[in-house]
Amino acid sequence: MRTNYCGLVNKKYLGSKVNVVGWVHRRRDHGGVIFIDIRDREGILQVVVDPDSAEAFDVAEQVRNEFVIQVTGLVRDRPDGTVNDSLISGQVEVLVEKIIILNSADPPPFLMDDEKITESVRLEYRHLDLRRPEMQKNIRIRHKVGMLVRNFLNNEGFLDIETPMLTKSTPEGARDYLVPSRIHEGQFFALPQSPQLFKQLLMIAGYDRYYQIVKCFRDEDLRADRQPEFTQIDIETSFLHSDEIMKMMEEMVRYVFDKSADIKLPDPFPRISFHDAMDKYGSDKPDMRIELVLTELTQAVKDVEFKVFRDAVNRKDGRVAALRVPNGSQLTRREIDDYTEFVKTLGAKGLAYIKINDIDNIAEGLNSPILKFISDDIIRKILHLTEARSGDIIFFGADKRKIVNDSLGALRLKVGTEKKLLSKQWMPIWIVDFPMFEFNEDEKKWNSLHHPFTSPAEGDEAFLKDDPGKALSKAYDMVINGWEIGGGSIRINDIKIQKKVFEALDISETLAQEKFGFLIKALNSGAPPHGGIAFGLDRIVALICQVDSIRDVIAFPKTQRAQDLLVDAPNLVEEKQLRELNLKLRKKNKVDE
Ligand code: AMO
Ligand code: AMP
Repeated sequence: MRTNYCGLVNKKYLGSKVNVVGWVHRRRDHGGVIFIDIRDREGILQVVVDPDSAEAFDVAEQVRNEFVIQVTGLVRDRPDGTVNDSLISGQVEVLVEKIIILNSADPPPFLMDDEKITESVRLEYRHLDLRRPEMQKNIRIRHKVGMLVRNFLNNEGFLDIETPMLTKSTPEGARDYLVPSRIHEGQFFALPQSPQLFKQLLMIAGYDRYYQIVKCFRDEDLRADRQPEFTQIDIETSFLHSDEIMKMMEEMVRYVFDKSADIKLPDPFPRISFHDAMDKYGSDKPDMRIELVLTELTQAVKDVEFKVFRDAVNRKDGRVAALRVPNGSQLTRREIDDYTEFVKTLGAKGLAYIKINDIDNIAEGLNSPILKFISDDIIRKILHLTEARSGDIIFFGADKRKIVNDSLGALRLKVGTEKKLLSKQWMPIWIVDFPMFEFNEDEKKWNSLHHPFTSPAEGDEAFLKDDPGKALSKAYDMVINGWEIGGGSIRINDIKIQKKVFEALDISETLAQEKFGFLIKALNSGAPPHGGIAFGLDRIVALICQVDSIRDVIAFPKTQRAQDLLVDAPNLVEEKQLRELNLKLRKKNKVDE
């Protein structure tokens, strides 16, 4: 049916006869001559139907948007002034000899180059949305990234090994998607949140280097960078230290960004400790393109009169910190109010500030609702520590450490982006020296910051029993431009330490046996030192494609409410199916809510 892809017909084919097939992108009737832009996955080609070829003209009059047509014709130069340099085929057109309509189409709900389509319409008509050149580009880059990853890992001796989809819950911190078993009444499989334990078992089994590009499932709150089913590039190695793993993984990421989109990432990626990241950026996935940093003030303001600061200083888990915005004194009252409302959504109670009109004149050159509560001495200290200059504004957060970090960290991103305080384009970073655990205030117990199989840092197993909050781990996260694209660690291969970690997490021996008995057995059977990482493929591709949401790089994503609008899933099932599974739906009543 075809000699050429539409989008690839160029000057090389001048004078030759081509056969192209594709979708009608646009049809323009120019009083006697009909122009059709015909589109396939490679792009758009202009074809011209002259009334002299009466039969073709007849057909051309019938075609409508999104009809599938086959065109035979002669490639010729476009007339002067009609060249379109943004298309590969932009210098040529095809003079039609024959058109065949291969299939008609209902009028589409949107045009393929319409940029203002709502996402729910796009998702409902995903088969049409996927025709749009931008989506075609994204999906092709995704393919390319996958191929490059496979190339790289294959060259490094990694084996692609599949792991089960119907399995048992692994604790990655989200809710499981469950699948009822028909044969085993009342029992359930869980879809994997990650293949974590299987890849560890593969190391114990001696495969040495494993990878898999694999679907993972997590029932958690969705955001632009989170889907209930998403794809990991999952990797595990034996007999490598964390530095060696990190180096190899950096190389892979540099290779993939370079070969898929000519993006050059630095070598090596800088590293920062979790503690410093929280202190300076209020986040464990800081966007390093933004030059703003938080300044620690808790000690500096400890004698202050201002109640808001004093209360924070006096809490065990309190923090006072500042965010200086260069040239921010020009912010309007309205903008400051908006920022205040914004931090309130993150738990802050307010957003104190000092505008610095003239730094050399503390008496009259500052403008702030809190000056009257703060001595000149402390003001000087604040100005010094934040390295303030005339024209700046300093925002303050004073509260529980977590609230200060969350709110000022998010404010840093918001102001940095809105005020265009972004530096270079690509700023990858490793976050290292994570704590092993974080305290869950609601349940009054320790939770793993990564997962319970993460090894403590050298010597820190000593803290597991009595001071778990002090133990650091051998975990590392890779962050690019504020997106956590991957996370991994050296694993525990010593059963004694694994048991101590279970204890610190308040997992009883019985529960550990019930949930992870297979791992305990395996750790007792010659487990090599091992470690690995998993990358979010969707996030990597979204970064490379420079889109805001991973939904734009997944062919058939779910909505923010975890639905598939195209096939209409999830949906109700037949009573018969429920009966086979020995399931009965509960009526939702007040007690359940
Ligand atoms: P983690 O839970 O950090 O680690 O996941 C690894 C990476 O997967 C991506 N990711 C997601 N992407 C889209 N939607 C989601 N809901 C989602 N959740 C996670 C992120 C993240 O960095 N087993 C460990 C890895 C290991 O230790 O080797 C794990 O799953 O980019
Ligand atoms: P108040 O004394 O509550 O009127 O607050 C005085 C100033 O401090 C206002 O600008 C508030 O926005 C700000 N503020 C109040 N609570 C906090 C807080 N926890 N952190 C930072 N600023 C605050």
